[in-house]
Amino acid sequence: MLARATARPGRLLIVDLFAGAGVYDLEGPPARKTGEAREGIGRLLEASDPPALAVPLLDAVRALDPGGRRYPGSPELARARLRPGDRLVLVELHPTDHADLSARYGGREGVEVRRADGLRLLAGTFPPPVGRAVVLIDPAYELEGEEPALVEALGRALARQPAAIYLLWYPVLERARTEAFLAALAEAGLGGALRVELARLPDGARRGLTASGMVIVNAPHGLDRWLARELPILAAALGLRGPSRVERLPGRPAPRRPRPLAPALSGGRR
Ligand SMILES: C[S@@+](CC[C@H](N)C(=O)[O-])C[C@H]1O[C@@H](n2cnc3c(N)ncnc32)[C@H](O)[C@@H]1O
Repeated sequence: MLARATARPGRLLIVDLFAGAGVYDLEGPPARKTGEAREGIGRLLEASDPPALAVPLLDAVRALDPGGRRYPGSPELARARLRPGDRLVLVELHPTDHADLSARYGGREGVEVRRADGLRLLAGTFPPPVGRAVVLIDPAYELEGEEPALVEALGRALARQPAAIYLLWYPVLERARTEAFLAALAEAGLGGALRVELARLPDGARRGLTASGMVIVNAPHGLDRWLARELPILAAALGLRGPSRVERLPGRPAPRRPRPLAPALSGGRR
C-alpha cells in the first residue's frame, strides 16, 4: 500500500499512530523467545521464488540489513518510502519505544516523532481534513474497551477526512468478538472497506491467536482482485493452515461530504 501511495504524484502525509520502536533485533531475547520470525520472515527470505506479495517487504528487510537480523517495523517501512515534500508522523505512547523512535528518527527531514495517545489523535487531529494521507493503525489490543474506542475514533476520523487511506490491523483471538468488532466498524462508516485476513490455523473453540487481518479503507482500485489471487500463494509459502479471506465489510461507505461548488457555479461573485 505504501508503495502504491508513494507511486502517485503529490505530497503525502503518512501517520503511524501506534508506531512501536521502528526496528527490531530478530536475534534479541524477545524475538528468540517466540521463534515466530523463523517461521515467518525467515522462510520468505530463504524462498528461491518468493510470493509477489512479500517482495516489497523482503526488499525493505535486505535494504536495512542484508544479514536479515534487523527487521523493519512500520516506521522504518514508511520512512524508506518518503519522497522530498512528504511528511511522516510517528506516534508512540510507551516511553521506551518513544525514546527508540526519537533516537532513530528525531531530526530527520520530513519525520516528526510524538509521544501521544494514537487513539486521541485519530479521533481529533490525524489525518487533517485536507491533503493526501495514509494512516497506519496497529494497536496492541491489550486493553479492555480498546475496540469500541477504535470504532469511535475511526468513525470521527472518516467523517473529518473521508478520502484518506486507513490501514487497521486486527487479530483474531475469538472469532465472534472479531466479527462483532468488524460489524461495529462497518456501522461507524467503514462499510464497503476491504477486509483481508491470513490464518495460521482454522478458528479454534478456545481463545488464542489463529489469524490476523487488515481493514483497508479507500483501497486502490483492483487491490481486492490482486490480493484474492496472491494471498493464497503467500499463505502456502508460509505453511499456514487456515483459510485466507478477501472480502468487503457489509454496508455502504458513509457518504463523502459534498465538495463546495466553484464560485461561478454556486452563484458567487465573479
Ligand atoms: C503492535 S505494536 C506496533 C508495531 C508497529 N506498528 C510495527 O510495525 O513495528 C503497538 C504499539 O502501540 C503502542 N501503544 C499502545 N497504546 C498506544 C496508544 N494509545 N497510543 C500510541 N501508542 C500506543 C505500544 O507501546 C506498541 O509499541
